[in-house]
Amino acid sequence: MRVLVTGGAGFIGSHTCESLLEKGHEVVCLDNLDPYYDVSIKKRNLDLLESHDRFEFVEGDVRNAELVSKLVRGVDAVNHQAAQAGVRISVENPMKPHSVNTEGTLNLLEAARENNVKHFLFSSSSSVYGGAPNLPFEENAVKIPVSPYGVSKLAAENYVRIYNELHELPTVSLRYFTVYGPRMRPDLAISIFTERALKGKEIEIFGDGKQTRDFTYINDIVRAQNECLEKGMGDGKAYNVGSGERVTVNELAEKIIEQVDSGSGLKHTDPRKGDARHTWADTSKAEEKLGWKPRYGLEEGLEKFIDWYREERL
Ligand SMILES: NC(=O)c1ccc[n+]([C@@H]2O[C@H](COP(=O)([O-])OP(=O)(O)OC[C@H]3O[C@@H](n4cnc5c(N)ncnc54)[C@H](O)[C@@H]3O)[C@@H](O)[C@H]2O)c1
Repeated sequence: MRVLVTGGAGFIGSHTCESLLEKGHEVVCLDNLDPYYDVSIKKRNLDLLESHDRFEFVEGDVRNAELVSKLVRGVDAVNHQAAQAGVRISVENPMKPHSVNTEGTLNLLEAARENNVKHFLFSSSSSVYGGAPNLPFEENAVKIPVSPYGVSKLAAENYVRIYNELHELPTVSLRYFTVYGPRMRPDLAISIFTERALKGKEIEIFGDGKQTRDFTYINDIVRAQNECLEKGMGDGKAYNVGSGERVTVNELAEKIIEQVDSGSGLKHTDPRKGDARHTWADTSKAEEKLGWKPRYGLEEGLEKFIDWYREERL
């Protein structure tokens, strides 16, 4: 198959591209190398991919309708990862996540509809649930996003659903729960805590640290995407992709300190606006419909991530 992967220079998207190439697909990657975090990290991700002769990189913006329409022509599937990620930055600057995440997604849907794409996968987020009261989150839970980022993902997800309902475009959304692993974004807690622990520096925790998170290892995310592509999932629905387990942020920091054998202490500071209090995935629907179950627990995933971090980021 020929697959357009947006955001393929980023953390998750680079793993998506790598896995598709390993499975023998042709990959066109569209990414604007946005400077939200160190662009040299994205360039290194691309270096790994550019050795494959079935890989093509196009530097450009998902909001450029003409470019998107040209790239979607002739592809069988679209795997849409590009986004202005990050909950906290969206609190200060809501226009950018709105424009990239919502309008960018709409652009891709329009192009996919015009070109009769056979499979359209959208990367959604646990942030759509926000302050939903019942844990673990099941897909039909009430959605109370608590950040502009969460709102932008929920709006995009709704476009993805109605393109299926109105135009019979085979779409699916996956709601990822905090993803970690090799090549991960440097702005996320596991990355920051690991860096500090390895350097023996104090670890800052926003709020009391009793907020909980469901952390998902990257290999489980990519396997869920592959299940969707291989099964031709296109029911317009959204599925949770999480580890199905949750820990407090205090426990996370303690686990990292223990695994690294570090003397780092913890410092609690003010909670940050836009952060959900809890996230926790009920993954039974993905198990039933996609035949997918998480395979990595936090201990094993952290061990792999920390080994990688020592080699590649220190
Ligand atoms: N990492 C997580 O924990 C997590 C959790 C839930 C959902 N997600 C979603 O998964 C997807 C991938 O996230 P990630 O963590 O790999 O983030 P990332 O920032 O590493 O990757 C996103 C990529 O999109 C590119 N991009 C940004 N704006 C663009 C634009 N206008 N046009 C083209 N490319 C653009 C960036 O340059 C980057 O390479 C995103 O849609 C994100 O919202 C991530």
